[in-house]
Amino acid sequence: MRFAGKVAVVTGSGRKGGLGESIARRLSEEGAKLVISDIGGSRDAATPDAMIGGTAEMQDIAASLPTQASTFACDVRDPAQVAALADHAITTHGSLDIWVNNAGIGYIMKPLGEVSPDDWRAVIDVNLTGAWFGLQAAAERMIKQGRGGRIVNIASQAAKSGFPHAQAYTASKHGLVGLVRSASIELGPEGITVNNVCPNHVTTGLGKWQNEHFAELQGISVEEYLKRMAGRIPMGRPGLPQDTASAVAFLCSDEAAYITGESMNVSGGEEPH
Ligand SMILES: NC(=O)c1ccc[n+]([C@@H]2O[C@H](COP(=O)([O-])OP(=O)(O)OC[C@H]3O[C@@H](n4cnc5c(N)ncnc54)[C@H](O)[C@@H]3O)[C@@H](O)[C@H]2O)c1
Repeated sequence: MRFAGKVAVVTGSGRKGGLGESIARRLSEEGAKLVISDIGGSRDAATPDAMIGGTAEMQDIAASLPTQASTFACDVRDPAQVAALADHAITTHGSLDIWVNNAGIGYIMKPLGEVSPDDWRAVIDVNLTGAWFGLQAAAERMIKQGRGGRIVNIASQAAKSGFPHAQAYTASKHGLVGLVRSASIELGPEGITVNNVCPNHVTTGLGKWQNEHFAELQGISVEEYLKRMAGRIPMGRPGLPQDTASAVAFLCSDEAAYITGESMNVSGGEEPH
């Protein structure tokens, strides 16, 4: 029960089978009260219903957790909604101790020449700017509370290496590396740590979409694509949502009190740096 007495917010945690759900469940199983937050419904062309978490899904996830949990619909592209989410954690559950920027989009992937300015902005707005809004809102309230805190971004292997058809995604995730390096310097004296977790491929709903996209790009079956992927990974398999959740739980725990500004790979050895 490492997180008994703590309150955690996980953005983008309202999609069943996603990394956010797994992270929220792990923190809850170890005692944290949770705010399950997601966009809740399509807002524009960049957020198609098939790729995002809906309100009912969010509520189902919250209801299935072992500790007190609430839901809060928040589009991380809007700083006012992100600030309201942070306030909700405090007014509903009593404090804000852990903030996980998990919301992300990885389904706008196109060859370089076909990426429109709107495509580029859509990815950067959620993956990088949305994480910045979350970090800023969480840090402000954690500083006011005066008892430290933990902020974790779900970056990616794409924070360390390049991938075809993913210029905006890769740039957004590399941007998170700079964000934690800089924010950790300012937040260290407040007892707040800021880190990234960098998973390689995990077969969530988003991961499945990416498997199909890259298999088609290479002209091979999804089965063959997954076989080749496993062959590149020293541990011999793609990541599981629990692998990422374990890393997040560690970084949110007291054992990680002296770790900040880091971007930790969870890649079965695939990503060496
Ligand atoms: N699955 C992988 O292979 C993998 C690998 C590395 C990193 N990641 C990262 O992990 C995170 C979770 O991905 P996932 O695989 O669980 O996918 P997912 O699609 O299940 O989760 C992403 C969540 O973000 C939400 N979201 C999208 N736009 C939003 C917005 N504007 N405001 C609030 N929420 C929004 C979606 O509704 C969804 O619930 C993402 O940041 C992704 O980039 C995933």
